[in-house]
Amino acid sequence: MLTLTSVSIIGGSGYVGGELARLVLTREDLELVQVTSESALGEHLHTAHPNLRGRTDIRFTSPTELKNVDYLFSALPHGSSNSRMRELITHAKHVIDTSADFRLTDPAVYKKWYGKDHSSPELLGTFPYGLPELHREDMKVKGRAAAPGCVATSIILGLYPFRNIAGRVIADSKIGSSAAGKTPSDSSHHPERSGVIRPYAPVDHRHRAEVLQETGVDVMMTVHAVEMVRGISTTLHIELKEPIAEKDVWGLLRGTYGKEPFIRVVRSSKGTFRYPEPKLIMGSNYCDIGFELDPNGNRLVVFSAIDNLMKGAAGSAMQCMNVIMGCDERKGLEFAGLHPI
Ligand SMILES: NC(=O)c1ccc[n+]([C@@H]2O[C@H](COP(=O)([O-])OP(=O)(O)OC[C@H]3O[C@@H](n4cnc5c(N)ncnc54)[C@H](OP(=O)(O)O)[C@@H]3O)[C@@H](O)[C@H]2O)c1
Repeated sequence: MLTLTSVSIIGGSGYVGGELARLVLTREDLELVQVTSESALGEHLHTAHPNLRGRTDIRFTSPTELKNVDYLFSALPHGSSNSRMRELITHAKHVIDTSADFRLTDPAVYKKWYGKDHSSPELLGTFPYGLPELHREDMKVKGRAAAPGCVATSIILGLYPFRNIAGRVIADSKIGSSAAGKTPSDSSHHPERSGVIRPYAPVDHRHRAEVLQETGVDVMMTVHAVEMVRGISTTLHIELKEPIAEKDVWGLLRGTYGKEPFIRVVRSSKGTFRYPEPKLIMGSNYCDIGFELDPNGNRLVVFSAIDNLMKGAAGSAMQCMNVIMGCDERKGLEFAGLHPI
């Protein structure tokens, strides 16, 4: 008989929590024990996540009444996760946090970017940065992960193979509205958000700190809110320390990602979608990466595309769980995306 692995989701009425529930419910080896929400307490999951109608009978429970489980996903806002983590780790051997609270390992760096002291600094560094492509072995040892920021994911995965040959790097990211979470604001109101190409945090986006920590490169990054619900498209302009040839670019990509199940190189000379396109990978856990080399060989333009709620959050978190469980990392993440969409 199959022994089920028990899983709970705290912060389960939000967008990331909903994606985590959808992913967990596809798996026969997992039992979804609890999904918490204060605002939807006692309601069926499909009141917050209508796509899950008929997929489960469970109802939202209180975040203050947690049962003990094998794996706990925390999808709380940053700050809340931080203040509750000492308690959360008593309820599960394995905790995977999707907030920003445990991604940075240095308390001083956390304070600089989040404006206050970390409330459980002794736990910083006990959550490996949740990109299996970079930290698979550490996750297996520590049994935890801090899933990365969504924009940071698109930048880090595009830059990582080239970090040692990079001089100055400019990252230009376009992002969909679901990245801001479920709570409406003036700037997310439909007449204000629809149709925009609106820059935000043009010089000091917090994910810059994660990119620096993981790649050693302090990128100049700007993010634009654009007309998408899901998805991130990032263009990296990488000044190269020395000119390189195209075969070297391929060599670095294949050497870094040749065996990675969710990284695909997208660079075609024919067809409509010659470079990575977020629309095509909605709902999937892929990070598509493409490139073009300046004819002078001194500037590499790298493109990356992800679904912010999948490879940028819940998908990555489930991939981390699979790493820790020691099962196939693709489990529950087989969806290929849709075309046309
Ligand atoms: N959206 C993205 O693309 C994305 C990508 C990467 C990482 N993240 C991170 O993932 C986390 C979740 O993001 P999201 O977009 O799902 O946010 P969200 O839609 O705003 O959902 C937040 C969830 O946390 C719950 N919550 C809020 N304050 C709480 C508290 N003090 N105690 C207990 N529960 C509380 C809310 O539940 P109730 O109000 O119903 O109680 C809700 O279920 C955030 O830390 C975010 O930064 C998001």
